[in-house]
Amino acid sequence: MQPADVSVAERLSAEGFYELDQRMWRRSWPDPELRPATRAGAWVARTRHFLETDPGGCWVADDDTGMVGMATSFVRDKTWCLATYAVRPGLQARGIGKQLLEAAMHHGRGCLRGMLAASSDPKAVRRYRLAGFSLHPQMFLTGTVDRDAIPVIEKVREGSAGDTDLMDSIDRQVRGAAHGPDHPLMQRFWRAIVSDTTTGSGYAYLDDNGGVALLAATHRRAATRLLWAAIADGGQEQSIFHVTAANEWAVDVGMAARLELHQDGYLGLRGMSPPAPYLHNGALL
Ligand SMILES: CC(C)(COP(=O)(O)OP(=O)(O)OC[C@H]1O[C@@H](n2cnc3c(N)ncnc32)[C@H](O)[C@@H]1OP(=O)(O)O)[C@@H](O)C(=O)NCCC(=O)NCCS
Repeated sequence: MQPADVSVAERLSAEGFYELDQRMWRRSWPDPELRPATRAGAWVARTRHFLETDPGGCWVADDDTGMVGMATSFVRDKTWCLATYAVRPGLQARGIGKQLLEAAMHHGRGCLRGMLAASSDPKAVRRYRLAGFSLHPQMFLTGTVDRDAIPVIEKVREGSAGDTDLMDSIDRQVRGAAHGPDHPLMQRFWRAIVSDTTTGSGYAYLDDNGGVALLAATHRRAATRLLWAAIADGGQEQSIFHVTAANEWAVDVGMAARLELHQDGYLGLRGMSPPAPYLHNGALL
């Protein structure tokens, strides 16, 4: 992938995931642009960032008609992570994805550990399992928050760039790899909150809707505090995504807030157990 490819790759991935959403869930979001402009802008910024940090992890597949597939991946502390992976609808299941994944995984050839957030597309899941990933089902909680259930929240403060070393230390302990150069990107788009006490430390990034984009903590108690803080600051309708069975503390918080529990996709892992207490991000893991 070259910098000039990023905007075409963004449209291709938007089409791929739009078609997947219709196929798997028989639903489509109303936006005729496939992916709303603000999200498209964040996607482009994120992909440019991967191209800068990991040019060898980012690949496109072309034919006579132009780009037909793309994959972006990156290595942090010897953990290889797959960020985005899509083949143009109509051209899937012809072996293009296999070649793209092999090219991206070559970038992580020195890494024993790997992470990816898999969609429910049976083709994607087949590719990941054949590439040696263990598939851990992801739950999510969604619905109308019962605000009377929100406890008094203490020991949570706003985070800043000054917390980056602490965040990296927490990530190294919980998922075995720091986010390192991804923090400035995340701090550009998301609000950070931190809980740092003698009994446990953690942080979370909250997206535009106040939802958790990423949460990591050394102890369940700190993670629970951070998730409640996010819920308290969010609107009436909320969702908590990317919850593995290793993170029942998050199921318990969501249920206490009277959200509904559902399931979608997998956390794909190689050479590691599901991180906890941890709510991974779909692309930055
Ligand atoms: C996932 C994706 C990138 C894979 O690309 P692709 O070009 O379709 O992949 P390939 O053709 O190389 O491999 C697909 C595999 O699934 C198999 N397959 C095809 N249809 C299938 C089905 N309905 N169920 C299960 N397996 C299926 C193919 O036979 C092939 O396996 P094989 O090589 O062992 O025969 C592409 O399908 C896609 O863009 N999906 C929508 C977006 C998405 O989910 N991306 C992944 C995000 S985590």
